[in-house]
Amino acid sequence: MEEVSHYSVLKNEVVDFFKNHLQTDNQYIVDATVGGGGHSKAILQALPHIKIIGIDKDYYALERAKQNLQEFNDRVILVKSAFKNVDEVLKDLNISKVGGFLFDFGVSHFQLKLPRGFSFMRDEPLDMRMDTSQDLDAYYVVNYYQEWQLEKILREYGEERFAKKIAKAIINQRQKKKIETTKELADLVYSIYPPKLRRGRIHPATRTFQAIRIEVNNELEEIKEALNKAIDLTDTGGLIQAISFHSLEDRIVKQTFKEGKRLKKLEVLTKKPITPTQREIEENPASRSAKLRVARRISSGVEDDKG
Ligand SMILES: C[S@@+](CC[C@H](N)C(=O)[O-])C[C@H]1O[C@@H](n2cnc3c(N)ncnc32)[C@H](O)[C@@H]1O
Repeated sequence: MEEVSHYSVLKNEVVDFFKNHLQTDNQYIVDATVGGGGHSKAILQALPHIKIIGIDKDYYALERAKQNLQEFNDRVILVKSAFKNVDEVLKDLNISKVGGFLFDFGVSHFQLKLPRGFSFMRDEPLDMRMDTSQDLDAYYVVNYYQEWQLEKILREYGEERFAKKIAKAIINQRQKKKIETTKELADLVYSIYPPKLRRGRIHPATRTFQAIRIEVNNELEEIKEALNKAIDLTDTGGLIQAISFHSLEDRIVKQTFKEGKRLKKLEVLTKKPITPTQREIEENPASRSAKLRVARRISSGVEDDKG
């Protein structure tokens, strides 16, 4: 398979925050989406006292991280897990608190190139699982969910205005023959779009694919759960950094930080989210929708005085 590297989004900005705004001696940083290890490597290079706990739910990503971080062997622990289980991961390692968290949501460039059906630009089986050991995949969602369920996820997770029509078309199509591949699904969605909207800024299938991927990987629920756990697992003075790629993710980060602030657990360091420079967008167009929000743990909070 072609070797594809991952361009780590907002890498310098993330490293600068850890370098200049950490106010704890805690040496552990959890890279909750370690992927190919790009961000982790930059952090390990810039902060010699830091150790990384790298989490990913994808075996393949962890293999990539292992290779990429080889030279930092004794400062890296890699764990296969969903990040929503970070409390258990740390407990197994006998670590009660850490100095920070990094979340870089979504899939990496090299995952997009794997034949897992993440992209509608190629014809592949409908899969979309980040964790290939889980049962639920895109084939099941597309071919076995009820019409109302499909409509709901297309509307909520895809913000797709033709959710109802697309859900109906999927049901009609699969009564004739199951929908097996990404191309079959993409062509079907394309055919539903009014001709004058087919040539918009994004392909008509973009939102449908986003919605199904979020459903398959339970993405939004896991983000919510993990961010809340991260707040409680971060030492006073530690940082939580989160990079999101669409409005649904960003809304969860923003609201969770806001609630953390209300509970006097967090100080939000980014009034507005940090976005990539024009130069970064030119080098890596996929970074254009990225938003980085950063918060610092300030105390044990009003409802939690155990620390
Ligand atoms: C955008 S990539 C991260 C790239 C990484 N920051 C780098 O610089 O190489 C996101 C990674 O997070 C993983 N991931 C997404 N959701 C996850 C979850 N709920 N639990 C654990 N890993 C997750 C994906 O498998 C993917 O490898």
